[in-house]
Amino acid sequence: MISSDVLAYLRTHETRIRNELFDFLRIESVSTRPEKRADVARAAEWLAAALRAAGLETTVQATPGHPIVVGERRRAPGAPTVLVYGHYDVQPAEPLDEWTSPPFSPEIRDGRIYARGACDDKGQLFLHVKVLEALRSTRGELPVNVIVVAEGEEEVGSENLAPFVEKHAERLRADAVVISDSEMFAPGVPAIVSSLRGIAYFEIEARGPARDLHSGSYGGAVANPANALARVLASLQDGHGRVAIEGFNDRVRRWPDEALSAIARLPFDETAFRVETGSPPLDGASTLERLWTLPSCDVHGLLAGFTGEGSKTVIPARARAKVSFRLVADQDPAEIDRLVKAHVAQVAPPGVAVDVTLLHASPAWRADLDSDVFAAAARAVEFAFGRPPVAIGAGYSIPIVGEIERILRAPVLLLGFALPGDNAHAPDEWLSVDCFERGLVAIARLYEEIASAAVVD
Ligand code: BES
Ligand code: MN
Ligand code: MN
Repeated sequence: MISSDVLAYLRTHETRIRNELFDFLRIESVSTRPEKRADVARAAEWLAAALRAAGLETTVQATPGHPIVVGERRRAPGAPTVLVYGHYDVQPAEPLDEWTSPPFSPEIRDGRIYARGACDDKGQLFLHVKVLEALRSTRGELPVNVIVVAEGEEEVGSENLAPFVEKHAERLRADAVVISDSEMFAPGVPAIVSSLRGIAYFEIEARGPARDLHSGSYGGAVANPANALARVLASLQDGHGRVAIEGFNDRVRRWPDEALSAIARLPFDETAFRVETGSPPLDGASTLERLWTLPSCDVHGLLAGFTGEGSKTVIPARARAKVSFRLVADQDPAEIDRLVKAHVAQVAPPGVAVDVTLLHASPAWRADLDSDVFAAAARAVEFAFGRPPVAIGAGYSIPIVGEIERILRAPVLLLGFALPGDNAHAPDEWLSVDCFERGLVAIARLYEEIASAAVVD
């Protein structure tokens, strides 16, 4: 068991580890931006080199999108195989002027590493790489067989990963999947995430006149696609934010009473949540119930007509919106796609053409907490944080989780070390240095716990 030698290694190499993480964070691997393609590829190569340095046989596999990095070390005969998944791509950093320090120039302030990707997910993925390096360097060999799969498309829906896992299922066969791409419940309160919402992400485009028109010469005589799009968007929800699309809520299941009371018992700090968001509470279900057990609908972006300073009287030729729905069990993304399209076709006003395109989708997921890997994780976390983890739900999505569980038939452990308020996807994203360091200890211990508990599927 761990292991003053592993801890000593991590401490001795602390500065180098920090510098390497900063190098990783400097690479602008923004997967959604075509012009960053070379940077995304560079991040993949950087990660592959780090995995090789940790002793893993590593390849960078091309896909129709961004590459998948696969590292392997199977030198622990008879021991379980752990597959570690993470993503090296990041969200766009805009708006840049809202960052205290530039997004791709990592900096430590007040015990936090600030950079795009610090917590989501480069920092947390890197933690596994360094644990593997430390275990192998101090012990000569890893306690378990390890496969690392890191993709560059998580932030854009992981489209090419499931086919890859399906194709290489035999080679990727594992007894447990470990993912560090999530948050703790609160500072000092580590957590295992036991449910994820799904997502269906759409682009909606309204097209009207053949070109932009003077609104004095044409207004009232032609349909305006921006007005039409506003009508369509307004029709998606009722006045209380409930999705108003016919059939959308039919498969929403209320969580069992004991699961709901477990949520109510968690020491959730509603006031802190309101301060963080600057947004007042909503009537009805509690905040955590809303986030973890109910679907939602959000408009992420709107593009139409004149948006600069001052005024301009124009009827734009087209208007576009990005919209997503968070899904819960048993909502089926393919059915949601059909329902949304049928709804928009029905409410779109005459005189415009409205196209709905599904960009990506994944269903909700719930963990089966009976697997041995969760008990191993609880012991490892208690060792590193001085208390066992709480089981929490999550409102966000990690598209591959359900697929990987189904294809590999292995339990998925979501054990992450980011903190609420970490500004993932927003300006000033950060990862706590303390959580990073305890995370290293927890993960090192986890591999050893899994080895000694001999987890089987
Ligand atoms: N790591 C996040 C999920 C997350 C968000 C964990 C916030 C902890 C706090 C993941 O990378 C993510 O952003 N998922 C996307 C998936 C989508 C783009 C398909 C999400 O939920 O929006
Ligand atoms: Mn992530
Ligand atoms: Mn993310």
